[in-house]
Amino acid sequence: MDIIRSVTEMRKRVVSAQAAGQTISFVPTMGFLHQGHLSLLEEGRRRGDLLVLSIFINPTQFGPGEDLDDYPRDLEQDSQLAQQAGVDIIFVPEAKAMYPPGYATYVDVEGISETLCGTSRPGHFRGVCTIVSKLFNIIQPQVAIFGNKDFQQLAVIKRMTLDMNLPVEILGLPIFREADGLAMSSRNVYLSPDQRRQALVLSQSLATAKELVAAGELDCATIIVQLKKYIDQQPDVRIDYVQICHQLTLEDQNRVDADSVLLLAVFIGKTRLIDNSFLVIKND
Ligand code: PAF
Repeated sequence: MDIIRSVTEMRKRVVSAQAAGQTISFVPTMGFLHQGHLSLLEEGRRRGDLLVLSIFINPTQFGPGEDLDDYPRDLEQDSQLAQQAGVDIIFVPEAKAMYPPGYATYVDVEGISETLCGTSRPGHFRGVCTIVSKLFNIIQPQVAIFGNKDFQQLAVIKRMTLDMNLPVEILGLPIFREADGLAMSSRNVYLSPDQRRQALVLSQSLATAKELVAAGELDCATIIVQLKKYIDQQPDVRIDYVQICHQLTLEDQNRVDADSVLLLAVFIGKTRLIDNSFLVIKND
């Protein structure tokens, strides 16, 4: 496994892989890898001859006062995990290589970027789309793999890929959860033991909503009111949003149907966590 820091070197490796007829699979991350990332790498290993993992804490997707400086980092541990997962190349560019002086070009996806996390984190998806399209240009993968935990991110990236005719398949994989239901996230490390316990409101709210739907409650407003009441009982939890949206457009829905996704974002102390689930259990 190679660790490549330079864009020029990464491009050379891409050109020689292409010349050798190899397919490239790509898992973009900000590092501090957990089991969820490893599941993406496992699929990446199956899907390409050359598996590239990028680790880049992308400054343009963090707003003022967010956790850019504190974001957890451990390249040594990430390298060991990546090696075990069969990664061929870890691409770890420096911020000044990705955004050199004079940098002025950004990718903005309208509409679906503006709701949910886009409302509470203005500019976030502009940063995500900019870095992801730059990484796609450098790495030129046939397939790129993301986690479904960032449901809106995945929808926005799919939209961007379609709109910009990018020749890459975007794959979303199921959320990886701890044994007690908490969705895996690099940010879980910020939680104190008590906050970690309170964080279970996320997965518990998803379960409650699914139970309500299974019992015949299809009115979105009613479900949301009940969930908010439940979440508000946790002393350190502040709701950012609780919304039921159409899976493709991310527009709010009035009644639950097979396309309904419940999306949650809460602050637990200073830590912002998200989670989501479809609401109708599919039998197929
Ligand atoms: O999901 C993430 O880790 C990041 O948003 C991504 C896709 C790597 C872009 O920086």
